[in-house]
Amino acid sequence: MNSPPGPKAPYFVQHYRWFHEPLEFVEECRQRYGDVFQIRLGEGKGHYPLIMINKPEHVQSILTDDFNKFDSGEGHLALQALVGENSLLTMDGAKHALHKNLMKPQFYGEALRGYGTAMRDVTNRHMSKLERGETFSVRNLMQRISMSVISNTVFGLEKGAEHEELENRVASLMNWVASLVGYTSLTYEPFRKEFGGITPWGAFVRERAAIDKIVYRQIERSRQNGGGSTRDSEPKNGRHNVLNLLVQAKDEEGQGMSDLEVRDELMTILVSGHETTASSLTWALYWLHQNPEIKEKLLEELDSCDDPTDPQKLYALPYLTAVCNETLRICPALLIAFVRINREPYRFLDYEFPAHSNITPCIYLTHHRKDIFDNPEEFRPERFLNKQYTAFEYYPFGGSNRRCIGSSYAVYEMKIVIATMLLNWELRAKDRKKFKATRRGITITPPEAFQLVNDGKRADI
Ligand code: HEM
Repeated sequence: MNSPPGPKAPYFVQHYRWFHEPLEFVEECRQRYGDVFQIRLGEGKGHYPLIMINKPEHVQSILTDDFNKFDSGEGHLALQALVGENSLLTMDGAKHALHKNLMKPQFYGEALRGYGTAMRDVTNRHMSKLERGETFSVRNLMQRISMSVISNTVFGLEKGAEHEELENRVASLMNWVASLVGYTSLTYEPFRKEFGGITPWGAFVRERAAIDKIVYRQIERSRQNGGGSTRDSEPKNGRHNVLNLLVQAKDEEGQGMSDLEVRDELMTILVSGHETTASSLTWALYWLHQNPEIKEKLLEELDSCDDPTDPQKLYALPYLTAVCNETLRICPALLIAFVRINREPYRFLDYEFPAHSNITPCIYLTHHRKDIFDNPEEFRPERFLNKQYTAFEYYPFGGSNRRCIGSSYAVYEMKIVIATMLLNWELRAKDRKKFKATRRGITITPPEAFQLVNDGKRADI
């Protein structure tokens, strides 16, 4: 049986392109090799070619029809140093399913509605720090906002020293993870040496210990408050607190999570919910300022909302929904879904993949298929008003048993942050320059150089 075609360049050349120009690299591969191709990012023990698919029926086979033949946790071993062994990202099988069922309710429905006010308040707080006339890097601001939102809704920490320390430490740890040194250290075992704490890895271990100290203190506090059955687990002042909800969560046999399990899942949420949402928010503001007529149309809708202080009302607006959907289509924060690793040899089309192959749907390539989306390079929210796409044509949050747990939370946050910014502040692009997507860790984002100017509060103008 033959294997899928792919570039013949040495693995380090492919590795370089995957990191420095990932969109161009996968687009070129699709044009040259077709719907199924493989790239090589490493060589030797533990390195498998990455087999990429993007055609909807192929995506359906892997994500849904045959989902129980694959694992994904094994593909995230590099993240274990950060999120531990009891994380949704690193577990597979029954334990993964159990944790997912315990955690899901915290990010959907009623729980979600409780976070809306915090999202709005955090956005206003960060925006108010900007001077009138100040130019700001959108990506940096979105990172600060999404970090505050996630740490507030996860820990329920009010503004204060501990909140700030946690935010700053997690943000700096994530900067390190996104850097070349950080990524290399997490991925390659030989770089993980402390040498008395003087190496980058030593600094990482110290920072992680400092974060753990805060997290365990919070867990202990939550348990002391009656095993988490505190008033904080209720939507107090319209706010939920994921920490308390996790401490209270019980499986069907009445078994709760240990402190270590709660710690690992809290880190998982902080790590996976921060960069992805920050990147998607930055893209949304980028596309809105590249297309002033779309921004104008959105503002008209926002201004006509009968109660824009109510997050639920904002959330339901159709054009705002279409803008967020189109942002996640044209620039999905994650270029690919998680790798699917087959436990047994797996037959797919004309290929027979040996056990342990790494197969992944390329979200970006599916979202840019001309046979699904007219003029896929154009930002056109209207396409989501007129048409419904299937879960294999449009899947910014992946699918089946690994589908993103924060999908509704992320879209909710995108809507509230964008609406709050546009409703209250007069913003304009510093220039209408086109920016190339850059990689930040595992996310694809506009560069820091994309800037907006704050022309002041709308009410004052
Ligand atoms: C716009 C923002 C986001 C995007 C684009 C995004 C995208 C994704 C994607 C593509 C996956 C892989 C799904 C698969 O392979 O089938 C994923 C998984 C995951 N995401 Fe997100 N995500 C976002 C925000 C969030 C947020 C806010 C949270 C937490 C509150 C979160 C937590 C997770 C977790 C825990 C997983 C692993 C799920 C599992 O393995 O079962 N994500 N996300």
